[in-house]
Amino acid sequence: MTMNNDIERVLYSEADIAAAAQRIGAQLAYDYAGKTPILLSVLKGAILWTVDVMRAMDEYAEIEFIDVSSYHGGVESAGSIELRTDLTTDVKGRDIIILEDIVDTGRTLKYMIELLEQRGAASIKVASLLDKKEGRVVEIDVDYIGFDVPNEFVVGYGLDYKDLYRNLPYVGVLKPEVYTAEDSATLNGQD
Ligand code: XMP
Ligand code: MG
Repeated sequence: MTMNNDIERVLYSEADIAAAAQRIGAQLAYDYAGKTPILLSVLKGAILWTVDVMRAMDEYAEIEFIDVSSYHGGVESAGSIELRTDLTTDVKGRDIIILEDIVDTGRTLKYMIELLEQRGAASIKVASLLDKKEGRVVEIDVDYIGFDVPNEFVVGYGLDYKDLYRNLPYVGVLKPEVYTAEDSATLNGQD
């Protein structure tokens, strides 16, 4: 058995994603010409998206990481956010491009944008592989979008279910039998 057998259907193939990364990397190089922005990759989900976009961006840029986790379900109130790993550089006066795997409710992004604003970033834009607009709870716009994804739980290419499937090279939907009953109610919001 392989991970592939758990996938019901592929939404975005390896080739689809490669094309999106090329398109956005080229657009960022154009938009940030001469600016040396910070590419801020959100762990762990955005790692594959980050390496593909940054290699497609022929412009000076620094790479930083942040790990922000949202709690959903259980006793934790939905929407509370924890900063687990902070970035290691001063963002004051810098142009920041947040690289995300998926924007769903928008809470994680809102938290990061406010944090960067407080610290005096000159500009903040967001480049997300996926935009799940139907899931939005707070008003947040994504500036660079790989794909508009339907309101389904997706895995692969960085996105996980129980920390697995991140190493699938494509994005897809799991077969329903893969989920445990307790999880099917609270699927959204895993990082
Ligand atoms: P919010 O809701 O704050 O959350 O925009 C964004 C984070 O929630 C996770 N998320 C998902 N993870 N499949 C996943 O594997 C999904 O369909 C999904 N929807 C949201 C993700 O970690 C993202 O950073
Ligand atoms: Mg995430």
